[in-house]
Amino acid sequence: MTFPTDFLWGTATAAHQVEGGNWNNDWWAWEHTPGSPCEAPSGDACDQWHRYEDDLDLMQALGFGAYRFSLEWSRIEPEEGLVSRVALDHYRAVIDACHDRGLQAVVTLHHFSTPRWAAADGGWTNPAIVDRFRRYVDVAGAALGDRIDLACTINEPNVVALMGWMWGLFPPGIANDLDGYARATDHLLAAHRTAVEGLRSGPGSYPVGLTVSMSDWSAEPGYEDRIDEFRSVHEDVYLGATTGDDFIGVQCYSRTRVGEAGVIGPEPGVEVLDMGYEYWPESAEASIRHAIDVTGLPVYVTENGIGTHDDEQRIRYLRSSLEGVQRSVDAGLDVRGFFHWSLLDNFEWAFGYRMHFGIIGVDLATQARTVKPSGHWLAEVMRSGRIG
Ligand code: GCO
Repeated sequence: MTFPTDFLWGTATAAHQVEGGNWNNDWWAWEHTPGSPCEAPSGDACDQWHRYEDDLDLMQALGFGAYRFSLEWSRIEPEEGLVSRVALDHYRAVIDACHDRGLQAVVTLHHFSTPRWAAADGGWTNPAIVDRFRRYVDVAGAALGDRIDLACTINEPNVVALMGWMWGLFPPGIANDLDGYARATDHLLAAHRTAVEGLRSGPGSYPVGLTVSMSDWSAEPGYEDRIDEFRSVHEDVYLGATTGDDFIGVQCYSRTRVGEAGVIGPEPGVEVLDMGYEYWPESAEASIRHAIDVTGLPVYVTENGIGTHDDEQRIRYLRSSLEGVQRSVDAGLDVRGFFHWSLLDNFEWAFGYRMHFGIIGVDLATQARTVKPSGHWLAEVMRSGRIG
């Protein structure tokens, strides 16, 4: 069994997690809000703002075909209506640097961070954000669209709404606000739809899609009916907003269990990761299948990986996970690529730098990069098309 020769292999990152110095967005403000759950500030992160060429060199050497990264809205539009040419030129240079190394540029327009000015009056709960986002997308599309290879509009709108207005772990840090959650969801999805339109009407011609956080769902005996109830709220509402898109981005890490009490924790006896959820490599195949069932769209696995300090465990996870991806391909499902989360050990939101998701380690004191055995393992899979 080999992967198709045109299967797209990549890694993924997000601007706020790797660039450093993104002080003008809601996340930075949240990191410095007394009482927030953030364990550490993002600070200089991996300084990818300056070191992107080195990182892309490493990706090229390992044999990747694509890099998924995000544009930082707060750099491109630091105040409402004020556009930074320098930021746009920077991202144009990043895309060119990808192309120089044979990497497709997969660009995400929004990956969790929102400019302070847009967050200040309600953020995603304010209907004004839909037009604001569209204006930013139009600016970015006009400047970069001729070189973009694939675009993701909004990263995991389901996580933005849930963590921001129900769990209180992401800015604005509000818990159990069902109304805020519903409004944020509506505006995120409206913003996605208008962003697709905006990118398609600008220069260039490239596939555009949404990425959704997904899970393998399972139930305690007797509660199977509740899977649909929960999955429809957490996934299907978002998957359902993709009609007419070019692909669906599947992002999956673990399993979610439901029982009498609703969503319940890990099953006793199943390995639990530092993130608090189960080691569950079956998640990729299950999520691919469900995404196709609901959307009928071609799939890119736009994120999959684990946060661990044990790189052998990462290889074990990736092996099982990729076997699931390969089974999906062999079954004739339209799965076109796999993006490992992540390229680097980076800023893992409220967990700070405690989680290590990278195939490349980063010494935060020196910014030195070290490719881990999992990086070399993945390189061999990509080279041979086979899972070793
Ligand atoms: C996600 C996120 C990433 C996380 C990753 C690991 O889209 O959930 O895109 O930012 O770092 O999922 O938790």
